[in-house]
Amino acid sequence: MIQYPPESTQPGDPVSRLDSAYTPDSAAGLSSIPFEATGSVRAGGAPVAVLRLDLTDFRSYETARLEVDARPVVLTGPNGAGKTNLLEAVSFLAPGRGLRRARLGEIDRRPALMGGEATPEIARPWAVAARLATPNGLVAIGTGRDGTSATGDRRLVRIDGQAVKGQAALAGYLNLVWLTPQMDRLFQEGAAPRRRFLDRLVFGYDPAHATRLAGYEQALRERAKLLRAGGADPQWLSVLEETLAREGVAVAAARREVADRLDRAASRPAGGFPSPRLSLDGGIDAWLETMPALAVEDRLRAEYGANRRLDAEIGGASVGPHRTDLKVHHAAKGAAAVDCSTGEQKALLISIVLAHARLQAGAKGAAPVLLLDEVAAHLDRTRRRALFDEIVALGSQAWLTGTDPELFAELGGRADFLTVAEGAALHAVSHAR
Ligand SMILES: Nc1ncnc2c1ncn2[C@@H]1O[C@H](COP(=O)(O)OP(=O)(O)O)[C@@H](O)[C@H]1O
Ligand SMILES: [Mg+2]
Repeated sequence: MIQYPPESTQPGDPVSRLDSAYTPDSAAGLSSIPFEATGSVRAGGAPVAVLRLDLTDFRSYETARLEVDARPVVLTGPNGAGKTNLLEAVSFLAPGRGLRRARLGEIDRRPALMGGEATPEIARPWAVAARLATPNGLVAIGTGRDGTSATGDRRLVRIDGQAVKGQAALAGYLNLVWLTPQMDRLFQEGAAPRRRFLDRLVFGYDPAHATRLAGYEQALRERAKLLRAGGADPQWLSVLEETLAREGVAVAAARREVADRLDRAASRPAGGFPSPRLSLDGGIDAWLETMPALAVEDRLRAEYGANRRLDAEIGGASVGPHRTDLKVHHAAKGAAAVDCSTGEQKALLISIVLAHARLQAGAKGAAPVLLLDEVAAHLDRTRRRALFDEIVALGSQAWLTGTDPELFAELGGRADFLTVAEGAALHAVSHAR
């Protein structure tokens, strides 16, 4: 299942690290050949799935290759074996900072953490290379830390061997959603993680959302910097505010549409899961309720212009989609998610993710890839079975982790079972079926 080292990886050479999944095959145009649907995939639907994953100096993995098919993947093994590390590697196939939101340098393999020698060493930048099945054929994605960048905290992305600028383009290939134990606090924390959760869902409906969001955030940072420095050219501020108003309304409108769709789709959840109600809370969201988008854009531009002095003081901007919050209610209880038990909150999140997967499978014929870290252990048998059945029915390549393989027994032959074993430097992953 996993081979060491992947033959095509040459440690030390950053380009080949990113491209170890990029073979002359794909150069010859394999990406235009439709991927053959396997038996586990819903009739008529082309699967979106990770077929191969190569890690180099990624956390506990020196080099590792994982080859799976489009079925759900179950990773089991003791605490600390490296299950979440594998999910994190997959999460870098989408835009953003991955499912741990780590600093990129933290991810470089540190042998000292694995009981290895603690000698000071120059960390080699990590890399992840993947081969994906998409409705348009096979795609090779390479990503990793750019060790040569000034901060060392820049991420490189290559798609089919071509370097791309930024990460937003990734949203057009792999539609990826995750639930992690950290997200048990999603409703307790500030609004930013909830916005990120929603934005990741929006990428599935509109991959350009990732580009707009990045453009908005970039303009917001530039404006804040100019305002902080003082004496900025008003003309230049106006140019930035123009971008903020245009992209900001597009971002808010896309979120609003997806939240509405999810709200409707989640009203009939899979067996045993609660029905969540979703809404957006924010100034711009309220305007969009009653005003046409163009009028909201004008109003937003005017507000940015009028608030320069205030925004210089607060070091940001007092209006805009960066202040939106996603509100979730437990319909049957009539209570806000924040007032529900941890278990109920988790179940609400699963309902949202499954509603999203259903919508995506219906609209695109391909369900998103789901990374469900330690989710199964917290569900009773009925809900666990409902979750598995739904995942299989949707043809989603869900990556499920847990310490106990028994939890996943009901998936049987419908999933690929892998054991992640503890080891000093290398972790063996093998079939345990
Ligand atoms: N940068 C790193 N270098 C080496 N090991 C790391 C690094 N970051 C985390 N680890 C180690 O990886 C191990 C596996 O972590 P994880 O994937 O979270 O395990 P689990 O199987 O419980 O999900 C942990 O023991 C952790 O110390
Ligand atoms: Mg873990």
